[in-house]
Amino acid sequence: MMSPPRIRNFEDFRHAFFGFRLPRIIVTALELDLFSVMGHTLWTVKSLAHALQVSERGLDILCRNLANAGLVQKRGTRYQCGHVAQRFLNRQSHEYRGAYLELMRQQWDDWGHLTQSVKTGQAIDVNEPESNAYRRSFSWAMHERSMDSARQVAKQLNLKQAKSLLDVGGGPGTYALEFLAKNPKLSATLLDRPEALAVAQEIAGPLRHGKRLAYQPADFLADPIQGTYDILWLSNIIHIYSPSVNRRLFRRLRSHLNPGGRIYIQDAFLLDNHGLRPAETNLFAVTMLLFTESGNTYSAVDIQAWLKKAGYVRPGMTSLQKGTGDWDGMLIHAFG
Ligand SMILES: C[S@@+](CC[C@H](N)C(=O)[O-])C[C@H]1O[C@@H](n2cnc3c(N)ncnc32)[C@H](O)[C@@H]1O
Repeated sequence: MMSPPRIRNFEDFRHAFFGFRLPRIIVTALELDLFSVMGHTLWTVKSLAHALQVSERGLDILCRNLANAGLVQKRGTRYQCGHVAQRFLNRQSHEYRGAYLELMRQQWDDWGHLTQSVKTGQAIDVNEPESNAYRRSFSWAMHERSMDSARQVAKQLNLKQAKSLLDVGGGPGTYALEFLAKNPKLSATLLDRPEALAVAQEIAGPLRHGKRLAYQPADFLADPIQGTYDILWLSNIIHIYSPSVNRRLFRRLRSHLNPGGRIYIQDAFLLDNHGLRPAETNLFAVTMLLFTESGNTYSAVDIQAWLKKAGYVRPGMTSLQKGTGDWDGMLIHAFG
C-alpha cells in the first residue's frame, strides 16, 4: 500500500483532503455494478446509461474519472472495462472478488462514524452481535484478500522439516492450503469458528492437497485447543485483541508446540521507535478501533517481548522478499 502524502503546506492539505474523491467515485461504480454490466462490450455513454438506468450526464462524468484511474478505457467516444476491472470487479469473471469488494464498499459508510468511535473508544457496532451470514461473507472476503500474499509467503517460508501446522484463526484456510500445496509431507489443522470453517471446506473440497487439511471448530481464547504441532501460524489475529489477551493467547498456544517447534506471526507491525511507521499500520489501527472491542496494531519489539514473557525463546523477524507477503513482508517468529 502507498503511504499517505505528507502535509507541509495548505496546498498539500487540500490535496490530501480531496484524496476521498476517487474512492467515492469507485464506490458509486460498484454500487451501480458498472463493471459487470460493461462486461467485455464497448459502450457509448448513452447506451450504458440506459442499461444502468442512470443519467447520461452523471455517467459521462463518472466514466471520464474512471478512465483517468485506468479502471475503464476510452476508445473514441466509447468506453470498455480496463484489465483490472475486467478480472476482479466484473461479476462474470472467475477472479471476481465480490465478497472483498463488498467489505471495502461497506467501509466507506463505516468510516463515516469515526468521530463517534474516537469519542467512545468503542466499535461502531458494539451492541450488535456478528450474524452467521456476516461471518460467512467475511471469511470469503478474507480469502479474496489473502490469496495472492498466501502464495508468496508459502513459496518463501521453509517448512520442509515440519509435519504438522496449526493455523490459528485460519479462517477460509487460504494460508494453510498454500502451505499444504508447497509441502507435500505437511498436514495442517484450521482452528476457527464454525462459519469460517464451512467456507474453508468449500474451498478445500475440490483440491487434492485439501485432503491434508483438518478442521477444529473452537473459540481459541475460551475453548480447549486440541493437539500439538510443529508450527503455529497466526496471520492477522493479534490486531483483533488487546495486548493482555494476546499475551494470554501466546501462553495458551505454547503448550501446543512440539519440542523444537516454531510460532510465526504475520500482522501489521509498527517497526520504528516512535510507533508511527509504517503509516499503513496506523491506518489499519483505525479499522480496529471502528470494528473491534480492544484491537490495535503493535510494535514488533513489544510483540517479541510478549512472546518471551509467555515462555518462547529466540524471538526474531523473518523478512520476505520486498513487495511480497501481507503488510510489509515481515513475520515474527519464536521457538517453543
Ligand atoms: C482477520 S481474519 C484472518 C484470516 C486468516 N488468518 C488470514 O490471515 O487471511 C481473523 C480470523 O480469526 C478468527 N477468529 C478471531 N477470533 C477468534 C476466536 N476467539 N476463536 C476462533 N477464531 C477466531 C475469525 O473468525 C477470522 O476467521
